Amino acid sequence: MNRREFILAFGALPALRGERQFRLRSNPFTLGVASGDPTPGGVVLWTRLSGVNQQRVAVNWEIAEDDRFRRIAKKGSSLALPEFGHSVHAEVAGLQAGRDYWYRFMTGGEVSPVGKTRTARTAAGTGNPFRFAFVSCQNYEHGYYTAYRHLAAEDLDVVVHLGDYIYETRFGTTIVRQHEAGEVFTLDQYRARYSLYRSDPDLQAAHAAFPWIVTTDDHEVQDNYAGAISKNDTPQDQFLRRRAAAYQAYYEFMPLRRTSMPAGPDIPLFRKLSFGNLIDFHVLDTRQYRSDQPCGDGLKPRCAAAFDPAQTMMGPKQEKWLMDGLRSSRSRWNVLANQVMIADVAQIQGGTRTFSMDKWDGYVAARKRLLDFFNEARPSNPVVITGDIHSNWVSDLKLDFDNPSSRTVATEFVGTSITSGGDGNDAVPQGLLQANPHIKFFNTRRGYVRAAVTPSQWTTDYRVVSYVSRPGAPIETRASFVVESGKPGAH
Ligand SMILES: [Fe+2]
Repeated sequence: MNRREFILAFGALPALRGERQFRLRSNPFTLGVASGDPTPGGVVLWTRLSGVNQQRVAVNWEIAEDDRFRRIAKKGSSLALPEFGHSVHAEVAGLQAGRDYWYRFMTGGEVSPVGKTRTARTAAGTGNPFRFAFVSCQNYEHGYYTAYRHLAAEDLDVVVHLGDYIYETRFGTTIVRQHEAGEVFTLDQYRARYSLYRSDPDLQAAHAAFPWIVTTDDHEVQDNYAGAISKNDTPQDQFLRRRAAAYQAYYEFMPLRRTSMPAGPDIPLFRKLSFGNLIDFHVLDTRQYRSDQPCGDGLKPRCAAAFDPAQTMMGPKQEKWLMDGLRSSRSRWNVLANQVMIADVAQIQGGTRTFSMDKWDGYVAARKRLLDFFNEARPSNPVVITGDIHSNWVSDLKLDFDNPSSRTVATEFVGTSITSGGDGNDAVPQGLLQANPHIKFFNTRRGYVRAAVTPSQWTTDYRVVSYVSRPGAPIETRASFVVESGKPGAH
């Protein structure tokens, strides 16, 4: 059994006697702490050591019922290994459901910052709304993470990150702070990119405040990749080596359980997290298994390939898993933590209706299978949360987007970027809402989306900052939308 197999089998290598008998010259916890994937009895605690060279380092952790660590609930030790970039993923079990905990790590005479986390609830909690936020697209070069500073001050059960945690290269020309280097390809380069992003104090504060549920979109590897197909037609074996490096770094930096540990170019990310019988999160991965963007990608009129039933967004295995999970869910609300927009968006260019081939708009048959499933199987209250396009949208998901009177089968909330695209605004492209009557709201402000969910009602608040090109912007709620249980569609 090699180390990787040992860790898969037992979660972590045991700390050996003697390995903790050393002192570090500087604090290794400069990348902060995080927690993630909460269950009623547990959570994964994360940190990553910096400046420890090639040694194996025993890291102790403790999780307490109070912020002064007087009532320790659990403690343990994990080995931080160079082959995992000295990351620690400690999976704690045996905690109480639905309560707050504080945690920290210790090694070599140094102590990490304290993180706060919350286990999953087991009850619907009628008088106690489930509160969460979702975020995406945090291009470091495009702005400051002020939205995360405000997010850290919220009271949330969980934060969901829908992808574009890093950007693999420079995009655009309005650069307010710089990447450490150019485009990243190798494991060490991806690690350096994540280390830069994770050095940001506002991002660290948001991780330290709540457990996160994370998934990837494209920029964690490369812009608009599709499965084993790169944007620029790199030979597939070469691109898969890059994908392996990217997924490895992603795992090392995220509070993921070992069930999400990558193996070569594959990372098992689609998974379900449940919070009582109130809300299930079906976390999707719409990059790793999708077929290539049809019609040459980009913004195009739909060619025949966009309607090809063989076009897949999730891959057959994930698609079946999702439908099985929706069918068997006992929760009132079923969230699809999705990457690219599902709602049809016709953009009129020179009198022609064009569509973004990278979105579900380029995978029409796969989308129809999903919307037909909503209509026929009637899973309880499907709500889609989406990232990717650096703008806020609220849409009714129609059984037939070309027929405005067809049934609304689900609701989609698209959340804007944290920074990507720079300072946004409230402008709505001319004709957008007229050409797409199922779309109810749009802007390109920056921020995050907050939701409060009870058995009878879902409330979404679009939280926006005034600017990201310099620090310190205030935050406001730009708009709020409500979904009533049993009535798909937002108002
Ligand atoms: Fe993005």
